[in-house]
Amino acid sequence: MSFLQLAESIKHRIIEYRRHLHQFPELSFNEFQTADFVADILEENNIEVLRNVAETGVVGLIKGDTPGRTIALRADMDALPIQEQTNLKFSSKNPGVMHACGHDFHTSILLGAAILLNQHRHLINGTIKLIFQPGEEKLTGAKKMIEKGVLTNPDVDAIVALHCWPDLPAGKIGIRKGPITAAAVFIEITIHGKAGHAAHPHKCVDPIVIAGQVVSTLQTVISREVAPTDPAVLTIGKINGGTAPNVIPSSVQLSGMIRTVSPDLQKRMPDIINRVVTKTAESMNGEAEVSYTMATPPLISDDSMVELIDRVVTETLGEDSLVYLENPSLGSEDFSFYAEQVPGVLFRLGTHNESEASKLSLHHAGVLFEEDALTTGVSVMCEAAVHYLNSETKTRSGNV
Ligand code: NI
Repeated sequence: MSFLQLAESIKHRIIEYRRHLHQFPELSFNEFQTADFVADILEENNIEVLRNVAETGVVGLIKGDTPGRTIALRADMDALPIQEQTNLKFSSKNPGVMHACGHDFHTSILLGAAILLNQHRHLINGTIKLIFQPGEEKLTGAKKMIEKGVLTNPDVDAIVALHCWPDLPAGKIGIRKGPITAAAVFIEITIHGKAGHAAHPHKCVDPIVIAGQVVSTLQTVISREVAPTDPAVLTIGKINGGTAPNVIPSSVQLSGMIRTVSPDLQKRMPDIINRVVTKTAESMNGEAEVSYTMATPPLISDDSMVELIDRVVTETLGEDSLVYLENPSLGSEDFSFYAEQVPGVLFRLGTHNESEASKLSLHHAGVLFEEDALTTGVSVMCEAAVHYLNSETKTRSGNV
């Protein structure tokens, strides 16, 4: 039986896991029940488990019957601070928290893959490490897991992850060589003015007006200073300033994110933004400071790992199931930290069906995910792991 057929045979269980996780979503680093749920299922299936890795992470280990390399399969477990509006009968029971990024899919798919791979240890030459990661939405979970040694003992030789993708129909797998998600940098801007009475602006320096000008001028950074062929986004997502309608405050805080794909542009952006922000503030008699915090590097898949997914999908699901994505997403994914350390690939799992709600974007309160995609995900994860581990052994013994 193929792993796709095996996945179909346990589809009801995978759907059950997914619906349970969907009903009880938890925010980043609060995945306590989720982690217990995951670890309990692994233990029930006699899989070696490490709990509380980087707070709420879980790591499972499946040793094949013959020794070999180690491949890691990673799922993220956290949900988002969104009030669900799907009307599903298994909608979130945790007010204001929703699995709107499909991490309930990722987790239940990896559980399904773990069960099947563990039942087929006789086919496995090497070790499969199951990484159930917390805190992806905060873009810090992967880094913490790596700091806790998740890529060592045994040393991980390669890593695979998937992410739900409403742009593709269920049954399709999307891959891309090179960058697939962007680098993300948080920016914090403080604009200093001079406080005073709202009736006497000429005796003050109004940081609210300066902030308005700064936000507008920043819009010209991408449109006028970056090549149209070089993808980049600059968004100010938060403004904080002022206490009363009749008071000019002394300062205003702005925060936002810069997303870039090319390393060269990533390097240039701070200089451009510093210039625009400080000169705009100065021209209006104020002052400004800007600080940057790196969130994630771009996620760059390893060519040979992309080829592995290409081969697995073509051989097991058929050529029609494979889509090469033309452009990277300007979203970010902390899987990039693993992919910086070991050859890695993240593939997109198509999740839309006929319904309009399944074509909404990730992080939308009404987005639906087609559950038929669950078995596709399980199958590709299992096949990728087995193909990777077994091809190496064959090469070593000279059987190829
Ligand atoms: Ni996500």
